[in-house]
Amino acid sequence: MAKKVVAIKDLEYTYPDGTRALRGVSLDIFEGESVALIGPNGAGKSTLLLHLNGILQSDRGDVEVLGMNVEENIREIRSKVGMVFQDPDDQLFMPTVFDDVAFGPINMGFSEVKEKVRRALKQVGMSGYERRAPHHLSFGEKKRISIATVLSMEPEILVLDEPTSNVDPHARRGLIELLNGFDVTKIMATHDIEMVSETCDRAIVLFDGKIAANGDVEEVLTNSELLESHGLEAPILVRLFREVMHRDDIPLRLDDAIERQKRYKI
Ligand SMILES: Nc1ncnc2c1ncn2[C@@H]1O[C@H](COP(=O)(O)OP(=O)(O)OP(=O)(O)O)[C@@H](O)[C@H]1O
Ligand SMILES: [Mg+2]
Repeated sequence: MAKKVVAIKDLEYTYPDGTRALRGVSLDIFEGESVALIGPNGAGKSTLLLHLNGILQSDRGDVEVLGMNVEENIREIRSKVGMVFQDPDDQLFMPTVFDDVAFGPINMGFSEVKEKVRRALKQVGMSGYERRAPHHLSFGEKKRISIATVLSMEPEILVLDEPTSNVDPHARRGLIELLNGFDVTKIMATHDIEMVSETCDRAIVLFDGKIAANGDVEEVLTNSELLESHGLEAPILVRLFREVMHRDDIPLRLDDAIERQKRYKI
């Protein structure tokens, strides 16, 4: 059995203004898993992710990451849990792209910083941007640099909040391939349900600060009723195969759909 790398128990979180964002969340994540956190705007996805490296801390419930209590091991946790924020302006604060991507490795005293920066920028398709000012980049470019600032740390757990938002189709495809190529544990909050079907093993539906479903990606994403009753939509292929073609063998991925369709016609 794989090692448990995240153990959350009965987590509740209320923002200082009184907004109750998490209302009792319990969740385990195992080493090497790729887990999607889906749910409508305001469901609590970002709030939950921010507990994974101690940016938010609650006195109601427990959060253990890599076997450590987060609050008591912040520095070690932050070196091992790479967090890509929803808003890149929260992530990028240095005068140049190089400085931002190098910040984590330098701060941790890692060696070969230049090489780490070069590799991370190549991974997100942003080689050559080293001297650019992050605040002058487009949103999608900032998003990709934000991901590079985390990859340069070579984290054990990759936490991504809306990794594909505002990213163009070509870069999105590259990002999906990049994520699939990493065998580290991945946890991502996203509205890109088609990406979930290509990158994740498990999907968790968060709704109104609580977990409404937690299961295999196939099981969750083909359950149109579950998704629709929680402010979501099933992937287009699921709707096409079920509602238009009245089939009950529902594919999640396009290549799978093409394959099935060929067989169906024979
Ligand atoms: N800093 C804050 N202060 C007060 N309330 C907040 C704050 N940040 C978020 N909230 C509230 O907490 C709830 C959960 O917000 P959160 O950002 O976690 O949702 P989300 O699922 O990530 O949504 P989205 O899909 O829009 O990113 C919402 O009701 C939101 O208004
Ligand atoms: Mg969010």
